[in-house]
Amino acid sequence: MAILRVARIGHPVLRQVAAPVPPDQLASASIQALIEDMLETVEEYDGAGLAAPQVHRSVRIVVLRLRSDEDLRVWVNPVLTPTSERLSVTMEGCLSVPGMRGAVARPAEVRVEALERDGSPVALLLSGFPAVVAQHECDHLDGIVYIDRVLPRSLGYVEEHRRYGSPLVRGELGSDLQGEEE
Ligand code: NI
Repeated sequence: MAILRVARIGHPVLRQVAAPVPPDQLASASIQALIEDMLETVEEYDGAGLAAPQVHRSVRIVVLRLRSDEDLRVWVNPVLTPTSERLSVTMEGCLSVPGMRGAVARPAEVRVEALERDGSPVALLLSGFPAVVAQHECDHLDGIVYIDRVLPRSLGYVEEHRRYGSPLVRGELGSDLQGEEE
């Protein structure tokens, strides 16, 4: 077990499309060790989730906590499908963009299909914060970072948002946007 170094934006690994994990390699010592290290790393950094490219491994694995009272989940080769045309706006942050937050509009509901770390398939319908975390983490597998999707004028430092209120709370993004704080 090890706490891994998190890549920050500017590192090319965050921009690669990650490779699927061949199901027959999922039980291998190297993949299981990577999963263990990702779980340890996301706990250490107190993140809501972490994708393998963020720890310099370009494979399709994410670990994430959908609800604060739940254990971390592991999804291998996740596929997300939006199931609603409604968008919801949330202030997001990312361990690869330390100290910053910005508002992102995403589909309010998604269906997730993935493998768990033991290879068993899982299918879930998510809404609210879990849908946001799922989309944010799975975006990393396609080389997409939330700041690519951030609403104009919403990006700021966590400390300033705390001091002056986030742009969502201040209503600076337009009254048509319904938002919530993460
Ligand atoms: Ni992230």
